[in-house]
Parts: sequence; C-alpha cells; structure tokens
Amino acid sequence: MRAILLLCLLQAAFGQYSWDRSASLTTPTSGVCLSDLTSCGCCLMRKKVERMESFFNISVEAMSMELKKSRTALNNIRESRSAFSVALNNAKQLTCYGPFPTKTVVIYKHVFINLGDGYSVETGVFTVPRSGVYSVALSAYSKAVSPFTTLAVCAELLVNGQVITGTRDMNTEDLEDSDTFVLAIQLKAGDKVAVNLPIGCSLCDDSTHYNTFTGFLLYATD
Ligand SMILES: *[C@@H]1O[C@H](CO)[C@@H](O)[C@H](O)[C@H]1NC(C)=O
Repeated sequence: MRAILLLCLLQAAFGQYSWDRSASLTTPTSGVCLSDLTSCGCCLMRKKVERMESFFNISVEAMSMELKKSRTALNNIRESRSAFSVALNNAKQLTCYGPFPTKTVVIYKHVFINLGDGYSVETGVFTVPRSGVYSVALSAYSKAVSPFTTLAVCAELLVNGQVITGTRDMNTEDLEDSDTFVLAIQLKAGDKVAVNLPIGCSLCDDSTHYNTFTGFLLYATD
C-alpha cells in the first residue's frame, strides 16, 4: 500500500501523468485512482456532483409536475365560475307578475350578475353549467292592490320540473308580505333550475328589487 502511495506521489511529482480532464471525467476507474491521486480526488468529486445533479433533476421534475397540477386546478376553478342574481323587474311603478290560472315559471328580467351565462332572461331558467354544490336563494314579495283583494305571495323552486322547496304566505289580514329561502343543493351539469309561481299567487316588484333569485357554485364535484 505504502509502495503504491509512494508511486502515486512520485508520478505526480515528476508529472508523468498530465491531468487530462476529459479522460479522468469519462473513465473514472479504480485503476486510475490507484495510479493517479489527482484523478482519484477528481473522480470522487465528479461522483458527488453527479449525485447532486440527479437530486436536483428529480426535485425540479417533481416541482414542475406539482406546478402543472396546480395550474390545471386553477384553470378548472376559473372556467367553472358560475353565479347569477336576478330581480323580477326594474319598473318605476310597482308591477305584479300573476296571478295566473296555471302554474307559470317566473321570468326574472333584471340581471345583477350572470357569470357563466347559466341564467336565461328569456325563459327564467338557470341551466347548471357544472356539477357541484350550489347555493340557491330566493326572496319573494307581493302586495294586495286593495284591502278587498287576496294577498298570496308564493313561489316554488323547481329542479328539472320537481318542486324542491317553496315559500307561501296567503291571508287577507295585511296588504304586504315577503318571504325568503336559501339552500345548499347538489346539482348536476345540465339540470334546469327555475322558480314557479303557483296558481293564484303573485309577485310584485319595482326598482327596489324585492324579488330576487340567486344561485352560485360553492364548489364543483366532478
Ligand atoms: C439532469 O438534467 C439535464 C437536463 O435535462 C440532463 O442533461 C442531465 O443529464 C441530467 N442529469 C442527471 C444526473 O440525471
């Protein structure tokens, strides 16, 4: 061993082995280490650098995959933004909708917001753009035109034609009534959500917007 070390030192001292960088980098064999101490140190360093490089390579790869996933998730959230809030009308004078002899979908004409264009001002129907949990709220107001007319403020929430919830206040003791409901509901893409006016009921509104219909996506579930 001592002899080999001595040999190495002698070789280094006499410069018999000039340090050929490319050779020592590409052929890091133990033979070279035994015969050339300079190459030996270089081999170890080279190995360490390689390990570090592959560690960094793996880390960078993992981080860019996470970044890609986050970007996709963020885009999904942006694309699925859905919120509408509408009022019955924007009239200067109190204007009533109903009563009608048959059940009628309430068409809310005044749009506060219709993000994602899910609500149709033509049909009064909100078409669910994306499956998820939605918050749906309604406020209803009506006024009897005289003490002798019946006051009936009522409205039903329809999902694909089925009544989900409603609000109802019918009496002859006062001339004004209002009602609200809010619910969180799981809806599927393509579901049709609307407000129905039951027979004999009416809703009245003006630019004060007592009658509002609101829905927004809390979070997507697909
Ligand atoms: C690290 O990545 C670079 C660029 O992709 C590549 O050239 C190099 O060979 C990689 N190194 C290791 C040790 O994997």
